[in-house]
Amino acid sequence: MKHLKCCFAFLLCSLAATLPSRAEEAKGRYIASYHLRPGIHVSCFDCHGEEKPSKKAVASESCMVCHGDYPAMKALTKNVKPSPHDSHMGEVPCTECHCGHKPSKVVCLECHENEYKFRIP
Ligand code: HEC
Ligand code: HEC
Ligand code: HEC
Ligand code: HEC
Repeated sequence: MKHLKCCFAFLLCSLAATLPSRAEEAKGRYIASYHLRPGIHVSCFDCHGEEKPSKKAVASESCMVCHGDYPAMKALTKNVKPSPHDSHMGEVPCTECHCGHKPSKVVCLECHENEYKFRIP
C-alpha cells in the first residue's frame, strides 16, 4: 500500500512537470491558451484537426488557414531583423517555435545564441 502511494505521488509529480498548470494556461502565456480565450475563440479542432486532441503533431497548414502561408508571414514581420519567418532555414514548421501549451522558443538561437534577440509570442 505504501508502495502504491509512492507510485501515485511519483506519477502526479511527473504529470505536473510535463503539463502546464491550469493557472499558467489561464494567464494566456502560451499560444494555445492565447487562442482559446474569449474574443479569439480558436478551438482545439482549429489547430489539432480533431475534437479531442490525442496525438502531438499540429500541422503548419492548420495555422496557415488563419494566418496565411510563409510569404504572408514574411510580409507580416518584414521589419523584424533578422526575420524568423524568412531565413536560410527556409519554411520551418510553425510549432517548432510557437510551441502550443508550453513557452515558445526561437530555434534560431540554438546556433545564434547571444547574436540575435527575439521577442516571440
Ligand atoms: C493555437 C493552436 C492550438 C490550440 C487552440 C490547441 N492546441 Fe493543443 N497543441 C498545440 C501545439 C502546437 C502542440 C504541440 C505539438 C507538437 O509538439 O508538435 C499541442 C499539443 C497538444 C497535446 C499533446 C500534449 C502536449 O501538451 O504537447 C494535447 C493533448 C493537446 N495539445 C490538447 C489540446 C486541447 C484539449 C485543446 C483545446 C482545449 C488544444 N490542445 C488547443 C496547439 C494548439
Ligand atoms: C482559427 C484561426 C486560427 C488558427 C487555426 C491559428 N490562429 Fe493564431 N491567431 C488567430 C487570431 C484571431 C489571433 C489574434 C489576432 C492576431 O494576432 O492576428 C492569432 C494570434 C496569433 C499569434 C500572436 C499572438 C500574440 O500574443 O500576439 C501567434 C504567434 C499565432 N497566432 C500563431 C499561431 C500558430 C503557430 C498557429 C498554429 C499552431 C495558429 N496561430 C493557429 C487565429 C488563428
Ligand atoms: C524560427 C521560429 C519561428 C517559426 C518557425 C515561426 N515563427 Fe512566427 N514568430 C517568430 C518570432 C520570433 C516572432 C516575433 C517577431 C517580432 O519580433 O515581432 C513571430 C511572430 C509571429 C506572429 C505575430 C506577428 C505580429 O507581429 O503580429 C504570428 C501570427 C506568427 N509568428 C505566426 C507564425 C506562423 C503561422 C508560422 C508558420 C507558418 C510561424 N509563425 C513560424 C518565430 C517563428
Ligand atoms: C543549425 C544552425 C543554425 C540555425 C538553426 C540557424 N542558423 Fe542562421 N546561420 C548559421 C550559420 C552557420 C551561418 C553562417 C555563418 C554566420 O554568418 O554566422 C548563419 C547565418 C545567418 C545569417 C547571416 C546572413 C545569411 O543569411 O547568411 C542570418 C541573418 C541568420 N543566420 C539568421 C537565422 C535565423 C533567422 C534562423 C532561424 C529561423 C537561423 N539563422 C537559424 C547557422 C544556423
